[in-house]
Amino acid sequence: MEQIKLDISRVYDFISPVEIKNLAGETSKAQETLYNGTGKGDDFLGWLHLPSEITDQQITGIETAVAGLREKTELLIVVGIGGSYLGARAVNDALAHNFSHLKKEQKAPHMLFAGQNIGEDYMHELLELLEEQSYSIVVISKSGTTTEPALAFRILKNHLEEKVGKEEARDRIIAVTDSSKGALRQLADEEGYRSYVIPDNVGGRFSVFTPVGLIPLAICGVDIRELLSGASEMSQRCDPAKPFEENPAAIYAATRNALYRSGKKIELLVNYHNKLHYVSEWWKQLYGESEGKEGKGIFPAAVDNSTDLHSMGQYIQEGERTLFETVISVERTDHKVTIPGDPANLDQLNYLEGKNIDHVNKMAELGTILAHLDGGVPNMRISIPALNARWLGQLLYFFENACGISGYMLGINPFNQPGVEAYKKNMFALLEKPGFEEETAQIKSRL
Ligand code: PA5
Repeated sequence: MEQIKLDISRVYDFISPVEIKNLAGETSKAQETLYNGTGKGDDFLGWLHLPSEITDQQITGIETAVAGLREKTELLIVVGIGGSYLGARAVNDALAHNFSHLKKEQKAPHMLFAGQNIGEDYMHELLELLEEQSYSIVVISKSGTTTEPALAFRILKNHLEEKVGKEEARDRIIAVTDSSKGALRQLADEEGYRSYVIPDNVGGRFSVFTPVGLIPLAICGVDIRELLSGASEMSQRCDPAKPFEENPAAIYAATRNALYRSGKKIELLVNYHNKLHYVSEWWKQLYGESEGKEGKGIFPAAVDNSTDLHSMGQYIQEGERTLFETVISVERTDHKVTIPGDPANLDQLNYLEGKNIDHVNKMAELGTILAHLDGGVPNMRISIPALNARWLGQLLYFFENACGISGYMLGINPFNQPGVEAYKKNMFALLEKPGFEEETAQIKSRL
């Protein structure tokens, strides 16, 4: 049977199978803490059973609600930052045509983003584009008060209202936010926007299977049923009742912690498929924000190969030996491109004649894994059969589940993010936000 496979055999030169097996007890304790809701952050465990709890009626509700919007939308602008946009972007970018923004015939709206940065030129150029194309907005903020998306939405809302009128704009804006609190909830209620709720017990970085991910993805034509059923299948594979050896999330969590304890402080998520770039960005947030606290945590980094072998390859091969890699390998491509022969053979590629491009890619992957092993970089490999909604659902849920286990093994609260507030306090002080007078005086004395 086809399934996502995790191969940890290429860490055995660094950590023995026995050392990993010895962590089974600790891993199982972390799973108990997670599933019994007895650990730190236990009020943020709603994501754990989310994929199997969502009903057919709820999914149909989403599909029906967004169908009308899809008809009249060329561009969907997703306004959000961090956990409020990375999940949708990861899935969308993994499944969309590489050049969908340039294709004349579009089957579904093209997804673009705003509020994920504070770039003035970015916003100006987006507004220029929006003059020319019909668009709708999904604005996503759990707190409803995050500066970046609030700023972007204020500008885009004005633009849309001026362009299509207030009534039509109301029909083209969907808000995803808290059920009762926050400025966005208030605005959505006052303006009469269609709105969806981010459950109280699901944090941003664990929210891809809530309306945060599902609404924009459904509008842009992603099969959210398949995504959710993949996630649900993986939640069964990760059930804590399964023995350690059969539970991929437990094995991944145990192995990365064993490597960390042996001095491998940096984990590189490596892909050999350009469409996975934002899956890595999503993963970086998931693990970075969950684990990086109390002076601890594996530093999550990522590379897109083979592109980055020509930039970061040197460091990975010969730099400081604090790295380990987790490679995501996609077994099947969607299309075949065969390498042609050439009578002159100046590029000396005729030995590859008749092979398809992915064969070369797979040999680059294997060759790199072995070279990095020789260079002292242990390696885990996650293979997924193909890049579609079902396998992505499985992959994302696998990482979420393992993150909860791994965070508890590390002894921290995997579900808070107190460190994110520090920059906000300084920014508000520098911007002279009312209520921050004391902080403003303090920070100015440092300049
Ligand atoms: O994971 C998190 O909690 C953060 O990345 C948030 O998602 C991000 O800061 C956006 O917050 P909000 O949805 O409240 O606007």
